[in-house]
Amino acid sequence: MKLQIIILVLAAVVIVECGHLFVGTNINRPMVYHHNAKYDAKLFRKRVENLHYVLPQVPSTIGKSIQGILAYDKTHSTASANITQGGIWFTFVNLRMKSERVNKLNYDVYIYV
Ligand SMILES: *[C@@H]1O[C@H](CO)[C@@H](O)[C@H](O)[C@H]1NC(C)=O
Repeated sequence: MKLQIIILVLAAVVIVECGHLFVGTNINRPMVYHHNAKYDAKLFRKRVENLHYVLPQVPSTIGKSIQGILAYDKTHSTASANITQGGIWFTFVNLRMKSERVNKLNYDVYIYV
């Protein structure tokens, strides 16, 4: 029991230290979208990119909303990702990703419904 708590706390720390973002749940949720958002570094500057996703209106997603969003920072840097519009319970999401100065952006984005 205690160990589980410690592991959870550690996981939270790791998630904060790297620029991962995870909201909602993906338990038993089908993944509807996967995208590797990759951008080269900008000289002397931070790279800021937006990713906009709208649930397609196909039979398997009609009437559903986004239930889980995972943005995995593959650069393991202090890059960050935030949801600026929509998100959980919405049918769309806008994700804003920001790199470290002079570093590239590389996020694996997964969306579950
Ligand atoms: C996300 O929000 C945090 C806290 O408000 C901020 O420090 C960070 O720069 C933001 N990142 C992006 C990509 O907007």
